[in-house]
Amino acid sequence: MKVGSVKEIKRHEYRVGLTPSCVKAYVAAGHSVSIEAGAGINAGFTDEEYSQAGAELVKGRKEVFDKSDMIVKVKEPQPDEWGLFHKGQILFTYLHLAAERELTEGLLKTGIKGVAYETIETEDGQLPLLKPMSEIAGRLSIQEGAKFLERPFGGRGVLLGGIPGVEKGQVAILGGGVVGTNAAKMAYGMGARVTILDIDVNRLEYLDDIFEGHINTLYSNPANIEKVLHESDLLIGAVLIPGAKAPNLVKRTDLKKMKQGSVIVDVAVDQGGCIETTKPTTHDEPTFTIDGVVHYCVANMPGAVARTATLGLTSATLKYGLMIANKGLEQAAKENEALKLGINLYDGALTYKAVADTFGMDYTPVI
Ligand SMILES: NC(=O)c1ccc[n+]([C@@H]2O[C@H](COP(=O)([O-])OP(=O)(O)OC[C@H]3O[C@@H](n4cnc5c(N)ncnc54)[C@H](O)[C@@H]3O)[C@@H](O)[C@H]2O)c1
Repeated sequence: MKVGSVKEIKRHEYRVGLTPSCVKAYVAAGHSVSIEAGAGINAGFTDEEYSQAGAELVKGRKEVFDKSDMIVKVKEPQPDEWGLFHKGQILFTYLHLAAERELTEGLLKTGIKGVAYETIETEDGQLPLLKPMSEIAGRLSIQEGAKFLERPFGGRGVLLGGIPGVEKGQVAILGGGVVGTNAAKMAYGMGARVTILDIDVNRLEYLDDIFEGHINTLYSNPANIEKVLHESDLLIGAVLIPGAKAPNLVKRTDLKKMKQGSVIVDVAVDQGGCIETTKPTTHDEPTFTIDGVVHYCVANMPGAVARTATLGLTSATLKYGLMIANKGLEQAAKENEALKLGINLYDGALTYKAVADTFGMDYTPVI
């Protein structure tokens, strides 16, 4: 198969769909790979590294689209890219169609076969191509939170780990899933006092075990949330109710209960956020302050650490990309249910039910 990858053009997207080591893997399996010149530069991969790995370097995006059977990307195609696809071409990327009707309609017209990273789902309900990004966002939430707690960045001037003789900072994490657990690891590692709240008692039991009792776990209810609001220097929003908007666990009036200069990092912003005052921000201007509480609500946090994020993402996508290249999409999907669930678009039909339901469009079961 002819595989191709291009430079991402969405604002502040620095990741790339294929690394030089992915190129090597495709070439070793008998495929050819073309890469747009400069595609990996923002993630620290040079054109020379791609050439050495066996890729053909191509000057413009159009040529990569023209010659590839499968395009491997990171973000959903931008309107400027829609016209570059040809019918029957495979697109392997994050699509997030349910978020945008115009994108869905635009891509349906192209007649491509769109495989979305975010809907590839294994039998046990895991989303293997979303997990590395949640791990990154969780870890980064503490790094960013610690920075914005510094006085020059608007915070109350608290060092999370304290020092001998001076009390440690207090971190509360709403939601103990992938993001929450990774946030807890970083916060605990920095020496902060950590409390994690969840509605799933089994999850709290698990967290209590893996942290060997070194962090506090609390059932997530209004009384316990109020308690942590009073105490916290840094509050992390990390709840998820699959397929639904995140619940507003902290109301606007609750901000008054927090200390002046405390920081909220609402990682769940991409699902609407779990703090009422959350609104999406960008890496250009990541924070805003309401009632003396600094809010950090960047919707694509992993973009800030493009190299780590590219390496994490491509390690997870490569296995599925190779399946498609080796067997063809149809045969690979017949043999692998998780991959089949990734197919959102197929030759002009919408093949993922939740997306079709969102827009009241026709749904066609795939293959
Ligand atoms: N901003 C970003 O860049 C970025 C990056 C990655 C993930 N995310 C988002 O982070 C959020 C969390 O993702 P995840 O992978 O950790 O999900 P997850 O499913 O692994 O964990 C979510 C947890 O929230 C818990 N929960 C549900 N309702 C709750 C409540 N009322 N109180 C407390 N806990 C509750 C669940 O029991 C679960 O343990 C998602 O919205 C995801 O889209 C954002």
